[in-house]
Amino acid sequence: MRLPIIAGNWKMNNTISESLALIEDIKKYDLNKEVEAVVCVPYISLSKVKKALEGTDIKLGAQNMHWEDNGAYTGEISPVMLKEIGVDYCIIGHSERRQYFNELDDRVNKKIKAALKYDIKPIVCVGETLEEREASKEEEVVKEQVLKALENIEKEDIKNIVIAYEPIWAIGTGKTASSDDANKMCEFIRKTIGDKYDVEAKEDIRIQYGGSVKPDTIKDLMAKKDVDGALVGGASLVARDFVSLVNY
Ligand code: 13P
Repeated sequence: MRLPIIAGNWKMNNTISESLALIEDIKKYDLNKEVEAVVCVPYISLSKVKKALEGTDIKLGAQNMHWEDNGAYTGEISPVMLKEIGVDYCIIGHSERRQYFNELDDRVNKKIKAALKYDIKPIVCVGETLEEREASKEEEVVKEQVLKALENIEKEDIKNIVIAYEPIWAIGTGKTASSDDANKMCEFIRKTIGDKYDVEAKEDIRIQYGGSVKPDTIKDLMAKKDVDGALVGGASLVARDFVSLVNY
């Protein structure tokens, strides 16, 4: 049985004090313990949010990292630094990083390996643009992203990796993929993993959908066979909405 995972990606939102206030708001509610809840917060808030989450089951995630342990990479943060804070997850290859920060598939692959080395679970984002979808290339594009991301990654690591299928046209646009379309792509990703590894890996890998997920769309989405969770931007910034997502 795969544990459902609802992760909030706060992106570049919330100062440290705003982050702590949001966590305190979330803590006022009871969360479903059968669902793994994760908050992926800006780097500068990680330590304080870690402390604020003590005594809860909510996991902590970062939104990016470098692949080297240390070195002359001005402005970057390494997996060693995240490990010391006690980060559980790290989003890797988000489409905004691919689009605005030139994060190519080979870097995504290096970052996944670095995260796994330090027992940080990668949430690996894949997804097609609107033009690619209109040209019916979504499967081709997503398959290539998945296979390049997982190059030389052992089967044993698959259970520690989450893939987030986030069609770029659905991010922050209010246009969400239908639950059937989301499931179709998650099923396709699962098949790709099965073909690369084996049936066990295919059953183990957790796959999220992301793109304008809201409290009123989550139930339908989570009822789908191949959707194991959601990676949520906007709606994760409001405590009550995030809690409704986790308690779908
Ligand atoms: P929205 O939920 O705001 O569309 O963002 C999705 C996303 O990019 C999560 O990583």
